[in-house]
Amino acid sequence: MSERVIPVIDHRMRTLAASLPATPIAATGLLADALGRPLRDLRISVTDRCNFRCNYCMPKEVFDNNHVYLPHSALLSFEEITRVARVFVAHGVQKIRLTGGEPLLRKHIERLIEQLAALRTPDGQPLDLTLTTNGSLLKKKARSLKEAGLNRVTVSLDGLDDAVFRRMNDVDFPVADVLDGLAEAQAVGLGAAAPGKPSGLKINMVVKRGTNDHEIVPMARHFRGSGMVLRFIEYMDVGATNGWRMDEVLPSAQVVQRIHAEMPLVQLDPSAPGETAERWGYAGPDGHHDPSLGEVGVISSVTQAFCGDCNRARLSTEGKLYLCLFATQGFDLRDLIRGQGSATDTSPSAPNRTHPLGHAASDAELASAIGAIWQRRTDRYSQLRASLPPDAQPTGGGKRIEMSYIGG
Ligand code: GTP
Ligand code: 5AD
Ligand code: SF4
Ligand code: SF4
Repeated sequence: MSERVIPVIDHRMRTLAASLPATPIAATGLLADALGRPLRDLRISVTDRCNFRCNYCMPKEVFDNNHVYLPHSALLSFEEITRVARVFVAHGVQKIRLTGGEPLLRKHIERLIEQLAALRTPDGQPLDLTLTTNGSLLKKKARSLKEAGLNRVTVSLDGLDDAVFRRMNDVDFPVADVLDGLAEAQAVGLGAAAPGKPSGLKINMVVKRGTNDHEIVPMARHFRGSGMVLRFIEYMDVGATNGWRMDEVLPSAQVVQRIHAEMPLVQLDPSAPGETAERWGYAGPDGHHDPSLGEVGVISSVTQAFCGDCNRARLSTEGKLYLCLFATQGFDLRDLIRGQGSATDTSPSAPNRTHPLGHAASDAELASAIGAIWQRRTDRYSQLRASLPPDAQPTGGGKRIEMSYIGG
């Protein structure tokens, strides 16, 4: 086996100013990036901490007792998050996902959910408000999350076998507690499907060849007909600490084949534009999809990039806007809202120069800054990486952000 090189990095140093553009950009809901992609999905990280140490995300060797997490003063407050989210919604965002680290570790997260649940799209619709969790605190918190206005949850679960699961989370956490959390989430209504959707409760399993791929079929069997949608995720080269190697990626096509060999599947149409997962339904005896058996999803970010219609923006815990999961730099919205932002000079002789804004950005100014950033967006990391040799990196040597910092 070749040596793994695990660089120690601090992605938090690299920041771009989020300057006001010379010409204001109003929030019309019609924003498109440089490749014509709209802005529909905002993922908000509420903490960079987690009580698990999944090797593919927060390996113990890097995220040990010496790791320095963000201080509380660096975090956006709930009021600041809601304010930024409101501007994103005015620009066309329809879905908000809270992530982490582990979002349920953020104190009083229910208060943030209440504030976000009150937001409305420009045509008066509530948001699709969801959260990704490792499930460890779900049994305790499912009811209060639902009461606060959360619509649904996605739970990460990398295996059913207790020994495999404990090895994957690397903190000896028992699988039974996560399964109890899932049952509670279903019992309080976090699994209720929105109109036209198969289920509110989704399970995400990251597949690492040689580590948990033997759990694929047992997981599929367990969740078939459960009312939950299980999705298999190709292990990604996200971040810079997990020592990713292509030979540990099991292509989704093989996941589908393995399940299909035991429980026949038929491919289903996408349920929304820009969706991450390809959908496969369990077939009944007549060979057609049987909705009572449900479906699985495969998320093939390595073998089949889905950047073409990527409508996702990510807001870090400290208020930086990232345009791609594989980005190396974020735009500092916190500076803008806390009065340390900048504006682009309007003089034609100094087209790219900026000066201090001198005041906390108004909503209209924040909308302008976000609009200008999104309009220039060209990110499509997975697509570019697929066209390069295995070791080449489209980021030109820049350090990619960690998933524990920006969420899934
Ligand atoms: P639903 O709306 O509930 O279907 O969620 P989703 O399809 O947006 O997916 P989710 O947030 O559950 O993401 C599942 C996994 O897909 C993440 O944990 C990532 O591993 C991967 N993923 C999500 N978004 C992206 C993305 O924009 N790019 C890449 N490369 N991977 C992504
Ligand atoms: N590859 C794929 N997915 C990952 N996640 C974290 N790290 C990786 C990775 N290297 C995703 C998983 C997990 C969520 C919190 O982040 O889906 O469930
Ligand atoms: Fe694992 Fe999620 Fe925690 Fe990362 S944030 S270590 S994937 S539980
Ligand atoms: Fe979007 Fe970047 Fe993922 Fe492509 S790699 S789908 S651009 S987040």
